[in-house]
Amino acid sequence: MLDKRRLPTIGSSSCHLIFVLALTFTGCVFFSYHNAYQVFTVLPANVMNNPGYFLIPPGNSTEYSPPYTTSELEIGDETTLIDLKSFRFTMNHDMCNNTQPLLLMMIHSSPKNLQKRNVIRETWGRRSSLVTTLFLVGWSEEYKVELEEEDMKYGDLIQGNFLDAYRNMTYKHVMALKWATYHCASAKYILKLDDDVFVHVPAVLDFLKHHLSPWGARRLILCDPLTAKVKRSYRSKWRVSPREYPRRHYPVYCAGWGILYSPDTAFLLYREAQKEPYFWIDDVHITGTIAGKLNLTQVSLHSLVLTKEEKEYMLNDSAFFKEFLFGPPNLTENEIRALHSIVSRG
Ligand SMILES: *[C@@H]1O[C@H](CO)[C@@H](O)[C@H](O)[C@H]1NC(C)=O
Ligand SMILES: *[C@@H]1O[C@H](CO)[C@@H](O)[C@H](O)[C@H]1NC(C)=O
Ligand SMILES: *[C@@H]1O[C@H](CO)[C@@H](O)[C@H](O)[C@H]1NC(C)=O
Ligand SMILES: *[C@@H]1O[C@H](CO)[C@@H](O)[C@H](O)[C@H]1NC(C)=O
Ligand SMILES: *[C@@H]1O[C@H](CO)[C@@H](O)[C@H](O)[C@H]1NC(C)=O
Repeated sequence: MLDKRRLPTIGSSSCHLIFVLALTFTGCVFFSYHNAYQVFTVLPANVMNNPGYFLIPPGNSTEYSPPYTTSELEIGDETTLIDLKSFRFTMNHDMCNNTQPLLLMMIHSSPKNLQKRNVIRETWGRRSSLVTTLFLVGWSEEYKVELEEEDMKYGDLIQGNFLDAYRNMTYKHVMALKWATYHCASAKYILKLDDDVFVHVPAVLDFLKHHLSPWGARRLILCDPLTAKVKRSYRSKWRVSPREYPRRHYPVYCAGWGILYSPDTAFLLYREAQKEPYFWIDDVHITGTIAGKLNLTQVSLHSLVLTKEEKEYMLNDSAFFKEFLFGPPNLTENEIRALHSIVSRG
C-alpha cells in the first residue's frame, strides 16, 4: 500500500552501530564491512524483549509439530477460498513431501511477470535442502500457455482458479496460507514476499537459526509494521469506500512485501480469513484486521529491512554495506541482480 506511516521503532537506542556513515535517514541500522554471511550480533530490542511469540526450544521439538491439522477445519474447507465455493489449485506441486524446509518462501507474482520470476530463480530464489521457493499466481486466460510451459520447466508455480486481478490480492494471500497449511505443514518458517524485492537468504537463514530457533516458533509475525489512513479520494489507487471499510484508520498491519510467519500463525490466519467477509487490500486484511482478532502481534523487523535509500547507497558505493534480511519493494530486475552480486561477494 502507498502513503503509509511507519510505526516508531521501539528500542532503537539499544542498536549497536558498528560503522556509521553520515546518512540522512533515521532509524536503527547496522553497518558492517565484514562478510555478508556473518551472524547478527544485535537484534532490535523489541524483538528480544517483547516477543508476543514463542520460540521452540531444543530437544522437545516433536511435541510442537505439527501445530494444527487440517482435520480441525470445516468440512468442505479444501474447496473453498473465502467466498469462492469451487476453489481448486490449477497448478500444484508437493514440494514439501519429503523435506522439512526451514524456510518456505511464497512469492506473490502476476502471470505476466515471467522475467521477474526468472531473475528470482537465478538469484535469491534458488531452492536448497533448507529453502523451498514457489510463486503464487491466479488464473489468466491470456498467459495460460506461457504459464503451463514455465511450470513444466521449473515446477514451482502454484496457481488457483480465481482470476488474477488487482482486487483479488486477498484471494492470493489466503491461497498462500491455504497451501502452507495443506501442503507444507512441516516448514519451520514461512516468508510471504512480492516478486519485486530482494531477499538476502543466507542472512535470513542465519537469523532464523541463531536469533529465532531452528526448531521453529509459534504465534510469530515479523515484518515492517505500518499504520495508514483509509484513502477515500477517487484519485487513489487504494481508494476504499466507507461501505467497504467504515473506519478512518486501518489497524496496525504489515508491509505486505515481506512477512515472516510461523506455521501456526499461517494456520490461524487462514482459518479466520476463510470466515471473514472479503476485503481486497490483503496486507491490511490478513496482517491487520485478522491478526488483531487473533491477538497476534506484529513484531517490527524494521531495522533489518533494507530501505530504498539504503539500497541506493549500497548500489552506488561499494564501501557501504548494511546487514539486512530483505529489502525494498519496486526493485528493477537489474537492481535485484546487482544486490545479489553485492551480497554474494561477501
Ligand atoms: C517438553 O515441553 C513441555 C512443554 O510443552 C514441558 O512441560 C516438558 O517438561 C518438556 N520436556 C522435556 C524433556 O524437556
Ligand atoms: C504428498 O503428500 C500429500 C498429502 O500430504 C499426498 O496427497 C500426495 O500424494 C503426496 N505426493 C507424493 C508425490 O508423494
Ligand atoms: C476475482 O476472481 C473471481 C473468481 O475468479 C472473479 O469472479 C472476479 O471477477 C475477480 N475479480 C476481479 C476484480 O477481477
Ligand atoms: C484477545 O485478547 C483479549 C484481551 O486480552 C481477550 O479478551 C480475547 O479473548 C483474546 N482473543 C483471542 C482470540 O485470543
Ligand atoms: C546513486 O546514483 C544515482 C545515479 O548515479 C543517483 O541518481 C542517485 O542519486 C545516487 N544515490 C545516492 C543515495 O547517492
